[in-house]
Amino acid sequence: MKKISILAIAFSTFLISCDNQLASDRDPIEDKVDSLLAKMTLTEKIGQTAQRGTSSRVKGPLSEELKTAVREGRIGSLINVMNKKYVDELQRIAVEESPNGIPLIFGRDVIHGFKTIFPIPLGQAATWNPQLVREGARIAAVEASTFGVRWTFAPMLDIARDPRWGRIAESPGEDPYLASILSEAYVKGFQGDDLANPSSMMACAKHFVGYGAAEGGRDYNTAIIHEPLLRNVYLPPFQKAIDAGVQTFMSGFNELNGVPVSGNQFLLDQILRQEWKFDGFVVSDWNSVTEMIAHGYCQDEKEAALKAATAGVDMEMTSQAYDNYLGELIDSGEIDLAQLDRMVRAILRVKFRMGLFDQPYRIDKPEVVLSEEHLEKAKNSAVQSVVLLKNDNKILPLASEKKLAVIGPMADAPLDQLGTWVFDGNQKDSVTPLTALKESLGTESFNFVPALDYSRDRSELQFQAAVDAARKSDVILFFGGEEAILSGEAHSRAHINLPGAQERLIKELKRKTKKPIVLVIQAGRPITLENIINDVDAIVMAWHAGTMAGPAIVDIISGKANPSGRLPISWPKSVGQIPMYYNYKNTGRPASAKTFVGIDDIPRGAWQSSLGNESHYLDDGFTPQYPFGYGLSYASFSYDNMTLSSDTLSEGAEMIIRFDITNTSHLEGVETAQIYVQDKVGSITRPVRELKGFKRVNLKPLEKKTVEIIIHTDDLSFYNGNNQLVLEPGEFSVFVGSNAQATMRKDFWIR
Ligand code: NOJ
Repeated sequence: MKKISILAIAFSTFLISCDNQLASDRDPIEDKVDSLLAKMTLTEKIGQTAQRGTSSRVKGPLSEELKTAVREGRIGSLINVMNKKYVDELQRIAVEESPNGIPLIFGRDVIHGFKTIFPIPLGQAATWNPQLVREGARIAAVEASTFGVRWTFAPMLDIARDPRWGRIAESPGEDPYLASILSEAYVKGFQGDDLANPSSMMACAKHFVGYGAAEGGRDYNTAIIHEPLLRNVYLPPFQKAIDAGVQTFMSGFNELNGVPVSGNQFLLDQILRQEWKFDGFVVSDWNSVTEMIAHGYCQDEKEAALKAATAGVDMEMTSQAYDNYLGELIDSGEIDLAQLDRMVRAILRVKFRMGLFDQPYRIDKPEVVLSEEHLEKAKNSAVQSVVLLKNDNKILPLASEKKLAVIGPMADAPLDQLGTWVFDGNQKDSVTPLTALKESLGTESFNFVPALDYSRDRSELQFQAAVDAARKSDVILFFGGEEAILSGEAHSRAHINLPGAQERLIKELKRKTKKPIVLVIQAGRPITLENIINDVDAIVMAWHAGTMAGPAIVDIISGKANPSGRLPISWPKSVGQIPMYYNYKNTGRPASAKTFVGIDDIPRGAWQSSLGNESHYLDDGFTPQYPFGYGLSYASFSYDNMTLSSDTLSEGAEMIIRFDITNTSHLEGVETAQIYVQDKVGSITRPVRELKGFKRVNLKPLEKKTVEIIIHTDDLSFYNGNNQLVLEPGEFSVFVGSNAQATMRKDFWIR
């Protein structure tokens, strides 16, 4: 008896101490949220779920209607209020005059810089340099937060395999591994070390999910992605954003497998909250809640509100279905009050984490905007984003004594070099290639004839002047590409070659002058080059590189900087090849160079037969123009001595992949060594190879370095046909080299 009671006391003491333990483990923010929630009326709760949009172009006084709505606690967040006085006034009303003084969050699309514009995200992805991406995001936060923007709708983490899709410019490219590394860099950069610091900007992982798989690359279009593919390719960058501490997600415009993602419980609840334990909040995309009516998924606004809230959208961007119907839906019992409380709790939790209750106001620091340091970082990012695609006869870097003809519509296009999604960047701050050339070479050493006024210009009137200028020069520096407005949201293209008369002009210059042509492309996507690739001697892909594009490009072509960018996406030969991505499946008849039958190899009158033909195009083969990971340097590198630390691994183990890289040239340069792994046989078919690691390695002239990249068996697991994450025993190959076509290989086993 005595024994039992001692045991009972010991047990209850244990329970009490566990309880205390739990109580002290509880985040104090949760208590603050609970006590605030207890004081809020239904109107205020619904108010927190509303994000109102204002257009930054609207001038004139602040609307009384908006002020009243804020005063009554009917708005939780605002997007695009880009007038500092209005930001201050609206926040003051929210904090001082609304019933519970809950601060507003001001949001904005700060995608690749605020005033100091960095390269478009696809360009930043080409740096393969997460540290640089992180610093760029940090700078964007430091600048934007001084205007009161504490929430950016970035990073965009949509895997994109179709360069016709205009939004590929905003994406991290086609690869889930690279995109995940960049996801972490962006989130940590925007949010800083402390989200509550007034110079931090909360990130938003968007667009959850599948938006990049839009059919035919047509924006807003249907996405059909089977679940293992979704989990293996499209979801990883989003999950990584959570690991990095992202506080918000945005549900996209698209439908996925028949259900619009803004009403998709499987994605927003099962995956995001139950599997990934996300405890921040989800905002819809602009009107994406009410667009579920046009999708044919909801009868009317009320049903849209019901489906979005039930699925897990906590805040509605701009459309007002929640504002209009959540009250009614709660009265009728179709939505439980507990559900609304869960939504509001998530929003308040994030507002507390952002420190808004302690410091709701922006801190004005005009001196940080466009500071020298920021411009220098933007230039460095632009330099590292440049991908050298072709360099016949080592025409680049250009020898200083060469006389240049500078031709083309993008040589002096200050607005276009900024790229898509730059609401706050100003073209007057841009330094164009023309300006940079004048500064570095002086006006004597080149003739400038744009010949085309803008990228779509079809006029041939200035062709002769361009030919005349070219004749007086040693080298033609042709600045081509596409205007910023040809990529980005709602700007998909069916033809992705150089638009307007650019191709004709290049051909005319070549035919009439025979001078070497260096083509510098500034564009928001890969550009198909099939019509002109043989007319140009060098090709430099500079993306839309932002404010400092000009000096960056000039540093590259003059040799002051050595190109180190690598493609974050396969570059197709033609539109007909799309989708063209490196981590495809083998098929039962894998294409191979050995057996390839081209269109001209088929005898006239040949008998219909599939024999000898594999999964390829007769005319464009089966490889892209340039593979994923590709990019040249002015230096040259060789790889050898590849070893694996073991040829057998068991679950939980690591493997060290070791190899030597030698700089075989007399120039210093950076090589980005890449590791690809093939899982040879799986319970569902596996991609031909997948990127699993990379390292940027700086090498002095003739220097040799031994590089080590470690992979863990976790890196080799994948979602099987039952959507379970598994590591399957069997044989694997590792490839090491400078792009996705790397051939140096070793095999190993997982047992
Ligand atoms: C629509 C876009 O899809 C999204 O990316 C953006 O953040 C919102 N508009 C807000 O501008």
